[in-house]
Amino acid sequence: MRLYPLLRRGLFRLEPERAHSLALRAVGLAGRLPPTRRALRWLFDAPAREVEAFGLRFANPIGLAAGYDKDGLAVDGLAALGFGHLEIGTVTLRPQPGNPAPRVFRLPEAQAVINRMGFPSRGADALAARLRRWPPPPGLVLGVNIGKNKETPNETAVQDYLALFDRFAGLADYIAVNVSSPNTLGLRDLQHRAALEALLGALHARRAGRTGRRVPILVKLSPDLAPSQLEMALEAILRTRMDGVILTNTTLSRPGLERHPLAAEAGGLSGAPLRPLSEDALTLAVRWLNGKLPVVSAGGILSPVDARRRLDMGAALVQVFTGLIYYGPTLARDSARAAALLPSRFKE
Ligand code: FNR
Repeated sequence: MRLYPLLRRGLFRLEPERAHSLALRAVGLAGRLPPTRRALRWLFDAPAREVEAFGLRFANPIGLAAGYDKDGLAVDGLAALGFGHLEIGTVTLRPQPGNPAPRVFRLPEAQAVINRMGFPSRGADALAARLRRWPPPPGLVLGVNIGKNKETPNETAVQDYLALFDRFAGLADYIAVNVSSPNTLGLRDLQHRAALEALLGALHARRAGRTGRRVPILVKLSPDLAPSQLEMALEAILRTRMDGVILTNTTLSRPGLERHPLAAEAGGLSGAPLRPLSEDALTLAVRWLNGKLPVVSAGGILSPVDARRRLDMGAALVQVFTGLIYYGPTLARDSARAAALLPSRFKE
């Protein structure tokens, strides 16, 4: 019997951001107390289906997408839900409040969400302190997704990203460079050839100058790039020796929602309507990259069947967000089970 539909009914009576922060707080609290953490681990026990990607070992290919736990408040609890990796953030260098509320909208008939959060963040210092104090549990891969502050103009954005890289290179298993959120004015221009090469080239040089472990850097792109723009971005990612690509962020388009009363709300659309865009981007990238770099697929994965399909299409890993809202907290475990039926990509 699935209990989540009942719980969802209650959560959907609340304003979306409030429901989210309540869920996050509950998972965070349950993860901090040993007995409830053990109970979560037992309930959400996911079968091992190891994956190796960009030099890291993942217990299973299912991850949590960025934006769910922006400040790393519930790492232990989320890890106990069966995820192989969590991507926390987007974190900005300095704290900032994000856009005024309301800034998240549910479209239940469409299994979708529109958000214009605009990177509310407690800032890099707070997240770094938190990760030092409560290191992630063993076996979990932790990514930190980084983005520029609203006030930072694109001309100096590189400085924000470099400072964020310095702050988290020793604390995260990988860094995700977010140049694709639609809610920070101009951010997505950083995906265009010259700007992207300058940003990623600077990050590459900064990493080369570090001693110790080579931290993998992934780049998260928008589903709204035209195929030729996506190819150009992939070329820049390869040329600057990045380690992988995350496809995709939310879309500014409103496929199939032209008549929906909330379609005119500003912000990025996620969930089911994003599925075809995200799948097209995955298909293009897998073909274009031809095995040179792994692709992490996100966007419209709302069920274990969706997750399994992305892996079949050639994604090394998948990430979910909106699916947790509509399918519920067993999505990671159930998807890991579906993935375990696939032959392992793990190489000794
Ligand atoms: C997001 N997403 C996101 N992505 C990112 O790189 N940084 C962020 O801070 C956020 N914040 C965020 C907030 C909210 C409320 C949503 C719904 C989404 C995008 C997310 O990580 C993912 O790429 C998309 O949502 C597509 O996946 P789903 O939701 O269709 O599974």
